[in-house]
Amino acid sequence: MASVTSLFAPVESDLDLLAQNLKGLVGARHPILFAAAEHLFGAGGKRIRPAIVLLLSRAAVPGQDITPKHRRLAEITEMIHTASLVHDDVVDESSLRRGVPTVHSSFGNRIAVLAGDFLFAQSSWYLANLDNLRVVKLLSQVIMDLAEGEIQQGLNRFDSSLSIEAYLEKSYFKTASLIANSSKSVGVLSQLPEAMIDQLYDYGRHLGLAFQIVDDILDFTGSEDVLGKPAGSDLKSGNLTAPVLYALKEHPGLSTLIEREFAEVDDFQQALELVYQSSGLQRSRELAADHARQAADCLQHLPPSAARQALYDMADYVLRRIS
Ligand code: IPE
Ligand code: IPE
Ligand code: MG
Ligand code: MG
Repeated sequence: MASVTSLFAPVESDLDLLAQNLKGLVGARHPILFAAAEHLFGAGGKRIRPAIVLLLSRAAVPGQDITPKHRRLAEITEMIHTASLVHDDVVDESSLRRGVPTVHSSFGNRIAVLAGDFLFAQSSWYLANLDNLRVVKLLSQVIMDLAEGEIQQGLNRFDSSLSIEAYLEKSYFKTASLIANSSKSVGVLSQLPEAMIDQLYDYGRHLGLAFQIVDDILDFTGSEDVLGKPAGSDLKSGNLTAPVLYALKEHPGLSTLIEREFAEVDDFQQALELVYQSSGLQRSRELAADHARQAADCLQHLPPSAARQALYDMADYVLRRIS
């Protein structure tokens, strides 16, 4: 299996530079917030989002070096993502992230909420300084979408009547919007034709949906070691994802267990069994594969280059995490 690193080969040195810059961008004015943010930037994030931005920047205009604005866009993208993780871990009460204790478990909830806010605010400031109003609008929308996604997920907890469409909409808000709109922003900065800009957006949207569906599958199939949390945590907390929604169609009894929030002994174990016995995981794999395929289709009008090939491979990589 190709590691993420070999996949990122065309932009490896760009990603090294980004890692250095990110720490510098989080100003040292507030020592605790700085420590909280640095703690996360120094940990082992996969940096998929900035890699996509940098690869698209290379693929959009092959042979030309990446401009400082494109680099800054990649940094802003990772900053927004990291801010959303700091808040998400508070909401989810998760203790580990990127192999290290989460900000709230090291520094407390108050600091984590403030550190997340601080990172969002700081990313907005760097965003404004790109001096490109269209890009400002695209990424401000993302910050709204992230909040919308978390709110929808919170409101729909333990609601077994949730539709696959509503699940996909939430997944767009939580995950795909950032990848889609940062991809689109590359097209805007590179002054690509409008049709091409739309295709970059669609690439990011489909890839982001595939990525979230795969992450949701891994929550059922991954080991506690790999996930850094017990298997089935999403279901346990009432976050009903693709495998459960498909399983509900085959085992209506599952909804009773979910609606009573696993109140009785063995409810949760029984619910897990029903998901494993159903075709839910298989159908979710097919759904993810379908989105990955659609993502790849969006790249066909870019000129051939090593960067474009890496973007194709990215769609495969997302799926290979579950094979
Ligand atoms: C985690 O994203 C949140 C989801 C959208 C599933 P990543 O898996 O990209 O997290 P890092 O950045 O590598 O830690
Ligand atoms: C991650 O969401 C945060 C966002 C995508 C905003 P999840 O709660 O689904 O993912 P993990 O499992 O914590 O990474
Ligand atoms: Mg969450
Ligand atoms: Mg979480």
